[in-house]
Amino acid sequence: MWWLERPFLALLRREYAAAMRFAEDDHAEVMPSAPAAPCQLYVHVPFCEVLCPFCSFHRVRWRAPRAPRYFAALRREIGLYHAAGFRFGDVYVGGGTPTVDADELIATLNFVRTGSPVRTISIETNPNHLEPAVLRRYRDAGVTRLSVGVQSFDDGLLARMERLAKYGSGAQMCERLAAARGIFPTLNLDMIFNLPGQTLAMLEADLAMLHTLQADQVSFYPLMAAPSARRKMERRMGRWDPRLRRAMYRRIQQELLPAYRAASAWCFSRVPGLFDEYIIDQDDYVGVGSGAFSYVGGVMYSTTFSLEHYCRRIEGGQSGITQRHALTLRQRMRYDFLMRLFGGALKRDYVRRRYGSAFALRMAPELLAMRLAGATRHDADAIRLTPLGRYCWVLMMAEFFNAVNDVREQMREHIRVELESWNDEALAEHAGRIDISEIGGRTRSVS
Ligand SMILES: C[S@@+](CC[C@H](N)C(=O)[O-])C[C@H]1O[C@@H](n2cnc3c(N)ncnc32)[C@H](O)[C@@H]1O
Ligand code: SF4
Repeated sequence: MWWLERPFLALLRREYAAAMRFAEDDHAEVMPSAPAAPCQLYVHVPFCEVLCPFCSFHRVRWRAPRAPRYFAALRREIGLYHAAGFRFGDVYVGGGTPTVDADELIATLNFVRTGSPVRTISIETNPNHLEPAVLRRYRDAGVTRLSVGVQSFDDGLLARMERLAKYGSGAQMCERLAAARGIFPTLNLDMIFNLPGQTLAMLEADLAMLHTLQADQVSFYPLMAAPSARRKMERRMGRWDPRLRRAMYRRIQQELLPAYRAASAWCFSRVPGLFDEYIIDQDDYVGVGSGAFSYVGGVMYSTTFSLEHYCRRIEGGQSGITQRHALTLRQRMRYDFLMRLFGGALKRDYVRRRYGSAFALRMAPELLAMRLAGATRHDADAIRLTPLGRYCWVLMMAEFFNAVNDVREQMREHIRVELESWNDEALAEHAGRIDISEIGGRTRSVS
């Protein structure tokens, strides 16, 4: 079936690349207008103690003395959105590793709550930060979901991922995870399948461990590697064979269902309610922090990827937004089609409210193709994914995030000198002298 997947993925890649093309435009720096209802807030903390070779997120090595300025800017940017009328119901803090500085993180969460009716807060962390006393401080600050990056319990794979020394062995992680159980309403474990060197037997051992741990929720991501990132990753982690992906995903579904329900195509949950970073449950979301994306009123926004430029903009009273891209009607429909079905169902009344009868007409090729392929089931109230459909959506979402990662890669290329100043101790001392200039709507750093 791999031969069938390849043209499908190539098609998607083109489509998503077009949807993610941020144009330089005169309104790029204008903050979006506040929607009537509370929306979702994504807060990006780009600091990590070590940088994993498979990761394409916007992140830099954590330098303790330089981080407080960034957190202060985050709070100020959230304040700008509050002042503009935005209210946030659900907050997701991702990274990077948001828990590198517990005091700053808690101050930021408290700040959001001063201006918004916050219902849920989800934060990401790594296994070396699972100290129960600190976790209880997060719970007292309103955190309802803790998401821990495990990736695998196999020590050989952890070593390939360069996570063994910093984040501990599989056995050490299990001990820490057991101590963290019961503190938050939801403890989620992030896992990756189809890693270089991973066999079906290794995956099965991970699945057995998940059963032993009885995690509330498991997010099992396929390894995502955009063509641009793949070579770099393979140099450090070994050859990657995407042909194993389908068999591995089938095994994951067999093992986790029905003890867990599929809360999305790659998130399996025992607990009601879901907060998955990748699910856009509400129509609009706002991303704050360097390199964060927002989607408000059919327009995508991106903040500057330069941390220096970001802090300067916020300190000058501007938002972090430097680019935007208004989606066409068809792109908006396809975006909703992707995101809603990823979450399991595309409700007919939602579509009617948003697009009237135009949706069925303009999306007819996609709706028909997915139905004929056996990927969707068309019920009276909603269109839903079949087990095969869930695998198709895993592929589609992975391609979507590859397109996002390509955008990140391009943006980060423009600020290479600045990023090196974070990642290289010797350059860090020159950080104060990095000069940021906007060239052609993009941020560039010049040493
Ligand atoms: C971006 S990290 C942030 C949280 C934390 N730093 C960590 O490592 O878990 C969140 C999760 O994204 C997933 N992830 C990162 N890069 C990925 C990739 N290339 N393919 C699939 N999943 C990836 C990992 O499972 C990771 O735990
Ligand atoms: S996977 Fe997590 S810890 Fe590793 S570089 Fe990415 S954000 Fe940082």
